[in-house]
Parts: sequence; structure tokens; C-alpha cells
Amino acid sequence: MKIEIAPSILAADVYSLGQEVAKVEDAGCRYLHIDIMDGHFVPNLSYGPHVVKCLRPHSNMFFDVHLMISDPGKYIEDYARAGADLITVHAEAAETAEELLALAEQIHSFGIQAGVSIKPGTPAEVLTGILDKFELVLVMSVEPGFGGQSYIESVNEKIRILREMAEEENPDLDIEVDGGIGKATIAMPVCAGANILVAGSSVFGAEDAGQAARELYALAVQEAEKR
Ligand code: DX5
Ligand code: ZN
Repeated sequence: MKIEIAPSILAADVYSLGQEVAKVEDAGCRYLHIDIMDGHFVPNLSYGPHVVKCLRPHSNMFFDVHLMISDPGKYIEDYARAGADLITVHAEAAETAEELLALAEQIHSFGIQAGVSIKPGTPAEVLTGILDKFELVLVMSVEPGFGGQSYIESVNEKIRILREMAEEENPDLDIEVDGGIGKATIAMPVCAGANILVAGSSVFGAEDAGQAARELYALAVQEAEKR
């Protein structure tokens, strides 16, 4: 299974956003993680579809858009048209499994991938029976809202459970983990079965973002080979 480092631009310098993205693209990263926060679903604000649209013509990266917003169905079209390749919605933002499936269908109607995310306190079992409707599950390893927090180790078990569930329901499922991932922690989610690793401050907070991303990739691949 492919291994990807998905640098999160939440930690990048907005003044030079284009150059920051180019640094990780030049370093070989294929995924770009774009965090959208509404000040309601999470206690922080980031940016909207305009930022996605402005970056789109300047990058060939796979735009991995993480919607940390209430009522995501209202905004999916905006992000799809702005250039998202994958849109992830939170399971906690839907009231029922049917609502979550309708969001997946809405995302797929734009010909792009659909992801579903669960917060640290949400069990893997809420996704039982619906994993085949998504291309990706995003496991939050911090409470969503802010970069620079510490990796919550208790999610390792949840990643393991999800990978087992996926073997039955959707063997190609990507499992992405988001929050607190750096050199010291990246082995844990990979060992548990994750294959896409989001890294915000450990990449864009480093002196050389490209070098930091390459080092994380090498560590992740090394760990994946042991699985
Ligand atoms: C947190 C965001 C993350 C964040 C990760 O709510 O979803 O993507 O950017 O940042 P780090 O890697 O610094 O924990
Ligand atoms: Zn994120």
C-alpha cells in the first residue's frame, strides 16, 4: 500500500503560501492537506474555498481537503469546484449514518474522492458497514482545531481496529492520521496500519520544510516495511 506524507498548510506562512506549497511539492510530496475550520464545529477559523481555488493552478498535488465544519453538505460543491481531489467530512457533523452516506454520495457526484473523519473520542465502530462508501478514513490523533498539539497514543488501537475492519469491507481504504505527527511519533500510526500521515508543524515549522517532509517519508516507509 502506498505511503504518503500530507503536509498541512495550517502551519505554513500564509504570506508566502505558494512558495511553501512548492517546497513540499518539490520534495516529492503528492498530498497537500488543507484544513477548513468554521469557528463552530471547532473553536478556530482558517480559510474557505478561495484559498483552494487560488492554489489549484499552481500545484499538481492531490488536494486533500479536511472539512472541520458544521453542515458540510452546504459547502461541498464550493470545495469541489475550487479544485479539491478529496473532501473529508466529520462523522460527528452528521446526525445519522444515512446523512453521512448522503454526504459521500454528494462528494462522489463531483467525480472526486470522499473521506470520513472521526475525532479522538469517537469509536471506529460508528463506521461499521459503511467503509466501502469512502475512499479514506481520517483518524484524528488530536482534538481538531489547532496544529502543534501532542499525538494521542490511545488512537493507535483505533487505527488497528479500522485496518482490520477495512480488510473485510474495503481492502483499498486509505487510513490517514492527523495531529501531532513528527519524527518521534510517525512510527506509531504506520505500525498500526495507517498509510497517509498528515504533518503540519513538523514540516512547515522546520527550518527546511522539504527536508523535514523527506525525512518523515523515509521513516514511514521504513516502518511500513516491517508490517
Ligand atoms: C488539526 C488539523 C491538523 C493540523 C495538524 O485540527 O486537522 O491537520 O494541521 O497539525 P500538527 O501536525 O501540527 O499537529
Ligand atoms: Zn486536518
